[in-house]
Amino acid sequence: MAKEGVEVYKEFEANIIPPAWKDRIWNKDDFKKWYETTVKDKKAVEEWWGKWANELFWFKKWNKVLDDSNPPFYRWYVGGETNLAYLDTDWQIAQGRKNKLALIWEGEPWDEAMEQPKEVRKFTYYDLFRESNVISYALREKLKVKKGEILTFYLPMIPELPLYMLATQRLGARHSAVYSGFSADALATRAIDAGSRIIVTADGFYRRGKIISLKPIVDEAVKICAQNGLKIEKVITVKRAGNELPWNKEIDTWHHELISDVPKNVTVPAEKCGSEDFSYILYTSGTTATPKGCQLPIGGYAVSLYATMKLIFDVKDNDIYWCTADIGWVTGHSYIVYGPLLTGLTSIMYEGSPDYPRPDRWWSIIQRYGVTIFYTTPTAIRLLMKFPEDLVRKYDLSTVRICHSVGEPINPEAFRWYFRNIGKDDIVASSTWWMTETGQMLTGHFPGLGKIFPLKPGTNGYPFPGVTMEVLDDDGNTCPPRVRGYLAMTSPWPGMLMTLYKNSQRYVDVYWSRFKGKMYFYTGDFAIKDQDGYLWVLGRADDVLKVAGHRIGTAEIESAMIKHPAVAESACIGKSDPVKGEIPFIFTVLKQRYSPNPKLADELKMHLRTTIGPLVSSDATIAFVDSVPKTRSGKIMRRLLKAIVCGAAIGDVTTLEDGVAIEEAKKAYESVKSALEQEKS
Ligand code: WTA
Repeated sequence: MAKEGVEVYKEFEANIIPPAWKDRIWNKDDFKKWYETTVKDKKAVEEWWGKWANELFWFKKWNKVLDDSNPPFYRWYVGGETNLAYLDTDWQIAQGRKNKLALIWEGEPWDEAMEQPKEVRKFTYYDLFRESNVISYALREKLKVKKGEILTFYLPMIPELPLYMLATQRLGARHSAVYSGFSADALATRAIDAGSRIIVTADGFYRRGKIISLKPIVDEAVKICAQNGLKIEKVITVKRAGNELPWNKEIDTWHHELISDVPKNVTVPAEKCGSEDFSYILYTSGTTATPKGCQLPIGGYAVSLYATMKLIFDVKDNDIYWCTADIGWVTGHSYIVYGPLLTGLTSIMYEGSPDYPRPDRWWSIIQRYGVTIFYTTPTAIRLLMKFPEDLVRKYDLSTVRICHSVGEPINPEAFRWYFRNIGKDDIVASSTWWMTETGQMLTGHFPGLGKIFPLKPGTNGYPFPGVTMEVLDDDGNTCPPRVRGYLAMTSPWPGMLMTLYKNSQRYVDVYWSRFKGKMYFYTGDFAIKDQDGYLWVLGRADDVLKVAGHRIGTAEIESAMIKHPAVAESACIGKSDPVKGEIPFIFTVLKQRYSPNPKLADELKMHLRTTIGPLVSSDATIAFVDSVPKTRSGKIMRRLLKAIVCGAAIGDVTTLEDGVAIEEAKKAYESVKSALEQEKS
């Protein structure tokens, strides 16, 4: 197994390190000193995180940086009080950024004649302050939203999403944002778990030139919530696309009507929140069918975003920053909304698809606004690199000085393309590793440490100073260099989730119990550390998929599948895909009275669309089989399935699973192979 990692590593090493990078060292000796001391010394770690926290505004200063007396329930900035909305707006204004542009939003519709976007909305820090105050006021006065309440957001990439997030934080309330590619079922499950009584949505949004309607999905979710004992009292709808909607006066209200009579200059004092209050929950997938509500803190989260923006993105006051993620996922929470505003940046937010109206839309955006820092995903790069490079060269991208990627491992071809075309074979480009649970980026290349770690493109860099990360074997021992193991954090960090919402036991079980006798955080990823200390994250070690960078559990997909009356059993694995990284490949056993046919496959995909959402259904492959191969103890032989789908030969496959007779494995191989062939034809 270790072989895999070594091969990946070699390919990068042989082809990518540009000689110029060796000399490209940012000399910041104090930073080098920090790195070296925090690796060794716990006291230095506290000093380090204390130093960053001291740069932020606190209503009340903390009295202890880290209380680790009750692991894994680490407490950061104990006794401190602050507020994310205050830090993102009021505090920016206090620092002289009142009239600085905070957000430039570009809608997807394109004006062919004028060769420009049809809609651009610009917000200064003062605009964000005023507009979010108006929303806070309306929520507090009209809907009686109180500190601690959780609102569910089901919104596309429009400015009202960050505005509602800020408005919620101002009140000391919390949000649970659900990505708009999830179905009514998935939305309802999350709203029920969070106990929300208010959902904020939009009529629709633009995607590849079409209007995608959203509000009817919320209507459906409201019904499902009611059947499960949760009364949604209010659905606030932002008018974005103007599509026709059914309307229920009892619970529906337009956003513009809700705020229409609120004075534009109203202010709502930002609630003084404890560092350890939580700011939001964000549901993410694990190895069971039930999503996990990651509960992120306020104080530690703010400090972690501030420090990573400064060090990994090296932000300066005149940067134009663009993170292409969707705010419905953690990358958008941390690095479109809370992080960039916290550092007073001007950032770009784009509503639509990278290839609309043509696959040069993103490059035109970089040129239009003079983007200097760019943060995107390998899937997007792979999508755009299919087109001629002339499409990129047409544009002036010379402003870009840092380009990072996130969300999934970046393959050498994609990295090279990105580095050449966007990075001009010169600038800082790195794959920053982190997860919903970590809240913040935890690896990368950052200015100042070049002396210890010269830039090595293609790797995930090295751990952020102040947190230690190791590659471990099953027993929690450190793997030798270049041997594959599990990536783990061996010390806490400030942006870390506090617990899983309403389920602390699961928090302990899932993340902190993997390595017997050791209080280490198990990430669920495979990685190697090379001989120079650089990390190379290779992908998930558990049954979690990354489809176009979107995280989804195979157990969620399987449990959705068996809800369909025709399905007796199903086993989902990730099949590698040249653009999306992985796509769900679902082996499906039908109940006896059903026979496989393309219509039924379509129906099952439709079923996935309604139970989980288009984010799964549009890429899923359904393969009908007579049975799914299992071990004698009844466990589905996933590795075997995966190997067959990846094209492994029968000899390799029969040695894969312990405790399975060769004959059984062969039988499985043949039946799966024939299903695959049918699928192809
Ligand atoms: C994967 C996204 C390789 C990894 C911020 C992790 C990565 C999961 C990288 C978390 C990267 C994220 N290189 N793999 N740079 N970044 N991953 O919660 O498998 O949506 O465990 O957070 O994405 O996904 P999540």
